[in-house]
Amino acid sequence: MKIARFSRIGFILAAAGSAVGLGNIWKFPYITGEYGGGAFVLVYLITVALIGFSIMIAEMFIGYKGRKDTVTSFEELAPTKKHLWKYAGFQSVAGLLIMTFYSVVIGWILNYIVTSLSHLPASVKEAETTFTTMLHSGFWTQFFYHSVAFVIVTYIISRGIKGGIEKLNDYLMPSLIIILTGMFLYALSLDSFGKAFSFMFAPDWSKLNSEAFVTAVGHAFFTLSLGMGAIMTYAASMPKESNIVHSALWVVFLDTAIALVAGLMLFTFLYQYGSGPDKGPGLVFISLPAAFYEMGALGNFFAVIFFIALAFAGLTSAVSLVEPMVQYMIDRFRLSRIKAALSMGLFFYIIGIFVILSGLDGTKEYLTWGGKNLFDWIDFLTAAVMLPLGGLVMSIFVGYVVPKSEAEATLKPYLKSYFEIWYFSLRYIAPIALFIVILNLIGIM
Ligand code: TRP
Repeated sequence: MKIARFSRIGFILAAAGSAVGLGNIWKFPYITGEYGGGAFVLVYLITVALIGFSIMIAEMFIGYKGRKDTVTSFEELAPTKKHLWKYAGFQSVAGLLIMTFYSVVIGWILNYIVTSLSHLPASVKEAETTFTTMLHSGFWTQFFYHSVAFVIVTYIISRGIKGGIEKLNDYLMPSLIIILTGMFLYALSLDSFGKAFSFMFAPDWSKLNSEAFVTAVGHAFFTLSLGMGAIMTYAASMPKESNIVHSALWVVFLDTAIALVAGLMLFTFLYQYGSGPDKGPGLVFISLPAAFYEMGALGNFFAVIFFIALAFAGLTSAVSLVEPMVQYMIDRFRLSRIKAALSMGLFFYIIGIFVILSGLDGTKEYLTWGGKNLFDWIDFLTAAVMLPLGGLVMSIFVGYVVPKSEAEATLKPYLKSYFEIWYFSLRYIAPIALFIVILNLIGIM
């Protein structure tokens, strides 16, 4: 069978498409708002540079050398104890779990595209009512759009790496970048831009507690799509003789740039037309639509293209959350791609319905434990526990288990004298930081 591989630029776009997602445009601005801006952003940026980038290279390396699904790649690369190391590949299940709520949120966004065409809320109060009504009693709306997201994602994945995933990213990623750049330039012309800029870049250390630190590290993993084998699975289809380091740099750069641009733009709008930055998960669904309303006619147009951009970002990430398990089913169980895509799709689709129910009046009582509903639990377990743990396993695997000579042979030509720095970060900095995060979590829980 002929193996379909990405083109070089196709790989970079797909991996960047995976990284740039709801995490950048929805989550990053609201957690930055919650944890007080500058200091949080700084911790996040340092984590991305010091740990994220090293693990990105490690994850690409495992996929690129293993050339298979995550489980098989770990098994192939482990010099000894292959039967144990293969279990490291099962961290891909985290992707399906993330997808159970990711798909629901994409659904909200699709709904907002449609409603923003004709109507924007005239006040924050109205925006809040609209959003909470959808959350607490809009079962059919959420169910309908969650189903649409399920159909699109499953269809794209069933078309394969080249005809599905690469094509999707070839169209959506440039469109996303154009929309955000256009809106950013407009934000740049507004008075409040300076205020947004100092909110994001002037650190207020008093707001930085250990919870903010853990959240920043967890988010660095989430936003770079690290720790569960999404990047690994894509890297298995990199063209031969690829420059891993160059690709990793591009992905990290695009992901960080888009998060910062989105944050600056949203905070500018919120200062200029709305209620200021700290609004929690409702930021883009509550404060932002109300701010768009204040802009007048331009606001409607901005609202629609903004939610389209957000949907694009979400969809290109969604396919990367599901693809690792699909690849696993194809490689290990010899399922056809269509059957694999459908079965993994149904998994997140069905659990996703319970995620919707966990926010709904009348059913949420049955789906809430210890103050967190199913949605929050899955978010917490994946982003805060499974991804850092997955990152820890990968750094140990490449830093200690795989012979150094193998990493050197593949990466030294590109990393040159930086190789030792990367290797040091992988062996010491990344595992220690991740270990602290995990310990902290146990304390926080
Ligand atoms: N990075 C995406 C975002 O920022 C989400 C995502 C896609 C992801 N694939 C992943 C997160 C793999 C962790 C692991 O929204």
